[in-house]
Amino acid sequence: MERVDKVMNHPVFRENMERIEKAEIDRFFCRHGLPHALDVARIFYILLLEEQVSCDKKLVDNDNEQMSVNMELENGNSEVLPIDKEFVNGDSEMLPIDRELMNGDRGMLPIDKELVYATALLHDIGRYEQYENGTPHNEAGAKLAGEIMASCGFTEDECARAVNAIKGHRRDSSDGDVFCHLLYKADKLSRDCYRCEAEPECYWDAEQKNMRVKY
Ligand SMILES: [Fe+2]
Repeated sequence: MERVDKVMNHPVFRENMERIEKAEIDRFFCRHGLPHALDVARIFYILLLEEQVSCDKKLVDNDNEQMSVNMELENGNSEVLPIDKEFVNGDSEMLPIDRELMNGDRGMLPIDKELVYATALLHDIGRYEQYENGTPHNEAGAKLAGEIMASCGFTEDECARAVNAIKGHRRDSSDGDVFCHLLYKADKLSRDCYRCEAEPECYWDAEQKNMRVKY
C-alpha cells in the first residue's frame, strides 16, 4: 500500500501522532495514538468486506441452497466462491445500502484498501489541535487529512470521501452512506472495554461498550 506508506511517513502525520501520544501518556480513558488508528483501519476494512458479502448475498437466489459470491481478485480475474449461509445470516447486520455507492448491477461497494486505511489512520489526527485550542477533533482532523492525503497521491474524490467520513465520525450518520457509517462503527468496535480498567467510569452507554471480543 504505497500511498498508505506515504501517509505513515508524512511529517504532519508523524508530528501530530507523536503529539497526541505524548499528550495522552497519562490518560485514564481511551487513547488515540497509532495502535488505535491501526485497529480502526483493520476493523473498518473487515466491516466493508462483510458488507460486500451481505450485498452480494442479496443478489443471489434465495431458494438456492448453494450460495456463492463473486470475488474480484487482485489480478483482475474473478472467481466464484461458496458462502456459508450461517456465517452470512448469523451476527451480521444488514445495513441500508446507498444504491449510488454501488457500481453496476453486482452491488459492488467501493472498497479501496488504501482509501480505507488512510481514512482510518487519519480519523483522529485532529486530537492534538482539540487539546491545544478546543477545535473539535473531527473538524481539525478532516482538514489535516485532506491536505495529507492530497500530498500522498489520493485523488480529489478520494480525499473528499475521507474528509466527509472523518468530519462525521463522532456521530452515527446512518443516512445511507455506508463508508461514513462503517468508519463510525469501526471506531466504536475498536475499544476493548472488557479489559479496560476505566470501563466502570467510562461515559459510554452500557450497550455501546464492547464487553466481549467482536473483531
Ligand atoms: Fe477514534
